[in-house]
Amino acid sequence: PGTTAVPGPRPLPLIGNALDVPSGRTIQALMELTRRYGPIMRLHTPGGDRYVVSGLDMVDDLCDDERFTKLVGGGQLILRSRFTSAGLFTADTDDPLWHSAHDILLPAFSTRSMRGYLPQMIDVAQQLMLKWERTNPGDPVDVTADTTRLTLDTIALCGFGYRFNSFYRETNHPFVDAMLGVLAESQARSRMFPALIRARRGAEHRFARDLQLLTGTVGAILDERRRSADPGDDLLARMLTGTDKQGRQLPDHNIVSQCITFLIAGHETTSGLLSFTIAYLIKHPEVVARVQDEVDRVLGTDPGVMPTAEMLGRLTYVRQVLDETLRLWPTAPAFTRQPYADDTVGGYPMARGTAIVALTPMLHRLPEVWGPDADDFDPEHFAPERRDALPPNAFKPFGSGQRACIGRQFAMQEAVLVLAMLVQRFELVDHADYRLQIRESLTLKPEGLTVTLRPRTGRT
Ligand code: HEM
Repeated sequence: PGTTAVPGPRPLPLIGNALDVPSGRTIQALMELTRRYGPIMRLHTPGGDRYVVSGLDMVDDLCDDERFTKLVGGGQLILRSRFTSAGLFTADTDDPLWHSAHDILLPAFSTRSMRGYLPQMIDVAQQLMLKWERTNPGDPVDVTADTTRLTLDTIALCGFGYRFNSFYRETNHPFVDAMLGVLAESQARSRMFPALIRARRGAEHRFARDLQLLTGTVGAILDERRRSADPGDDLLARMLTGTDKQGRQLPDHNIVSQCITFLIAGHETTSGLLSFTIAYLIKHPEVVARVQDEVDRVLGTDPGVMPTAEMLGRLTYVRQVLDETLRLWPTAPAFTRQPYADDTVGGYPMARGTAIVALTPMLHRLPEVWGPDADDFDPEHFAPERRDALPPNAFKPFGSGQRACIGRQFAMQEAVLVLAMLVQRFELVDHADYRLQIRESLTLKPEGLTVTLRPRTGRT
């Protein structure tokens, strides 16, 4: 079939399908459209046609690194244009600095390095435990606000030896507000005509100020490290001293971009994952009971004994729960690919450079892969024998191939650790009969989720 045969909502003159995918609920709109139009659909945007796919055979095509690669577009491109060079996330695959940084940073994400981060991860996790232990009975905690404090402080401490100390603040750290501002503005601009962007002077002023705050924060971290006698053994140390396969070091402007990239990519998504997991747990007491059993068996019931890497490896049901959450709500819910040359996707011809979006929340709900209960939360979807039998590209919450998430093990270690420590200490109470609503910014998060806490009782 030709691409004209690809179904999709009817475009309007000039604005194309802009009204079909309103900002603020783009992903949910794409999910609804997919339910209507099927596993491949075409959307017209001012920037050209794009295709949205969720069929397994189509995602198989997109994940072939020989034929397809990441396409950096929209808001990411606008953000990138404000820096001298690109961080790993927004770089093109043929950017020599992507290869250098990837070479230099990959060892910092090895299994051995993960063990090294554990004490710092526990340090920050304990701050969350302490805060929640000190709430009065019946006082609700704002789950997403606190998981954001946790994940931001964790990546900053493990990656850069820097303490944001977010648990000592009532409101967001200014870095978080600036980051949210920058991401929202870049995304908004990607939908605007250039004349409108130029006319919005106030928005440009705020954008520049927020960008300045991001670079300023990172600049301060860099200065502090350069002044310090201790070179450190973290992401920053590797970026300052490491060399790529050709023996080249990263230029300073690129280190700044990488630091901002890690601070953003390293916390938003993990915080969403922990929050969605809690949103599901409060509705599934049978799952909580199994998690409690496993945690009590592996970690023991004495919260004074800190988890080891070996213990975390044995928390296999906790991992199933997290994977099941990432299946239904992959917090980075799409990745965009393009063919190197004219090619096909699911049999449909695609010209070189075409933007093709893999919509993972729909890929992850295919009944032919997950069964008739594909829309339901059930960690049995990841029971060991079922996981082993999954088709290779059926579960893609971390993207694909060489451009997949470099922080995957980091995120999972942090999430397993924190969930286990929480379950060891607390019963999470659904005090407000929570109804899941999705908040979309760069990533997905549950909107308005609060729980109350009871210390665990009845343990031997
Ligand atoms: C890339 C998801 C946590 C750093 C990606 C991509 C996805 C993803 C889908 C590919 C994006 C694309 O193809 O456009 C997630 C999820 C996380 C998570 C769901 C948590 C549950 C982390 C953490 C870090 C991190 C903790 C850092 C410590 C990165 C970086 C890239 C990336 C640097 C770009 C890699 C490259 O292209 O070379 N992530 N991520 N992520 N992620 Fe993550």
